[in-house]
Amino acid sequence: MKILEQITGRNPFEGNLIPSRVALFQRGRPTQPFPHPGNYRQPLRILESIYCGAEQESGPGRHNRYLSVPGLPYVLVTRDPKLIRAILIDTGDKPGQFDRDESPAAGIARATGSDTLLYSNGTLWHRQKKLAAAPFGRTSLFQPEKFHEFEQTFRHTVAERLDKLRKLQAESGEKVTRIKLEPEIQVIMLEMLVNNFFGADVTYDELRNRYVPAIGRLISWMVDDTVIPRSRNIFKNTGAGRALLDRDREAFQELTDIALSGRKEGKGLWKQFKSDATNDQLRNNIRVFLAGALEATTSMASWALSHLSRTGKLQRAVFEEVKEMNEYDPDNLKQARTLNAVLTETLRLTPSLYFLPRRATVDRWVETSDGGKIRIPKGTHVVLDVWHSNRCEEFWGREICGYKAVRFAPERWEKLAQQGKRPGDIPHFGFGHGPRACPGKYLGMLEVGLVVGAIVKIFRFRAVKSKQHVLAGVSTKPADGVLVDLQLR
Ligand code: HEM
Repeated sequence: MKILEQITGRNPFEGNLIPSRVALFQRGRPTQPFPHPGNYRQPLRILESIYCGAEQESGPGRHNRYLSVPGLPYVLVTRDPKLIRAILIDTGDKPGQFDRDESPAAGIARATGSDTLLYSNGTLWHRQKKLAAAPFGRTSLFQPEKFHEFEQTFRHTVAERLDKLRKLQAESGEKVTRIKLEPEIQVIMLEMLVNNFFGADVTYDELRNRYVPAIGRLISWMVDDTVIPRSRNIFKNTGAGRALLDRDREAFQELTDIALSGRKEGKGLWKQFKSDATNDQLRNNIRVFLAGALEATTSMASWALSHLSRTGKLQRAVFEEVKEMNEYDPDNLKQARTLNAVLTETLRLTPSLYFLPRRATVDRWVETSDGGKIRIPKGTHVVLDVWHSNRCEEFWGREICGYKAVRFAPERWEKLAQQGKRPGDIPHFGFGHGPRACPGKYLGMLEVGLVVGAIVKIFRFRAVKSKQHVLAGVSTKPADGVLVDLQLR
């Protein structure tokens, strides 16, 4: 029945938000609108191809598109923020609600285990969410004394690392050092997570030389393994590749055990973790936290620094805010308005997670806040294209907030505030939305705010390349690794 519908080309969606069909093969597009071994390393171009020609449409097909391949489930792609919000709110474990689509994360699940907060759906997800609630909750991390404790250890870590960088530069006698900031950030982020959050005591050198490279290679392998699972076998069958993969897995396993080892003595945030789950039941989630949190926080901090490295004026404004700031508590951070606007704008223009995958579990009617309606057939893969939504002139452009949507302009948040809008009123989905939003949001913001604020406080930095290119895999990253000319203030 469905195959017939697909062959005849009948649009299977209903309502006033009906998507238009994207041709599978057509000349003149950046690439094909679906992933294959030749283009899967360029997911943003795949999404861009889906919107080719959309500007000529005046109906809902301008923002809602679908792909149909006979015999396979439909794929709905949307960049309409109202529809994105409605679907995110309608995701969860209640009958008929959307699931998170596991297929784009299949490689991750094969590496970490599938019973995790990130990967699972239904009652298993609900159980996982309850487990994670206490240590991640806004109320636990943001109680003044708890926050202070974390702020101190986090800040100590950041200060120690940056001090090394500062000394290196002072000793070199050179005024300017050309350096990629992303690798530095990655180690600081993993250190904060392992040593401060999980209360472990792993040396900087071990993190930098062993664990960060191992996790990096594993993440890259997870992406390959999602699109072309057989690459795993090819990789495995080559002697050196297989040995390296095995060593990386071993290192990851070891780091997971180290993170878990603080539980018994209630180190770090473990003391807030009240559960009778065994360590074995937690292991897979710890793996997700270690790899996922490292990836997302590194991405966000790298983007923020990459944007700041292209505008001296903003860098100076952030410096003026943080130069006398010796404590980062929620109040101080709130006062740092430019820094906050920079972080929010970073997530809007360059979201770390560029699309949010969902799957319709039944034939489902979805309604948006302004009366839009769409019936999505059961089994449809839904791609919520946050990257293109946030760059769409219609939603984020000059007419709405005074600046072009594709421009990095933290000032737009001031303009929106003047119209009485708060960041939460116009979601950019940088931390998701609804029941499956990011539980690490407050921790992530704290880490990224600390790292970006501390770097601006000590250094001036300027981008070496004028053009900012994007790498997208599990998350997005500046393609140049945040290559800057760094100077001590
Ligand atoms: C600042 C950096 C971060 C960003 C930008 C970020 C972004 C996101 C986004 C957009 C989602 C929603 C995905 C979806 O709806 O499909 C998400 C979910 C998630 N994040 Fe984060 N995240 C960050 C930091 C963290 C940290 C520090 C942790 C943990 C230590 C974490 C753990 C998770 C988990 C477990 C989920 C899945 C939640 C669920 O499905 O219920 N994230 N994150």
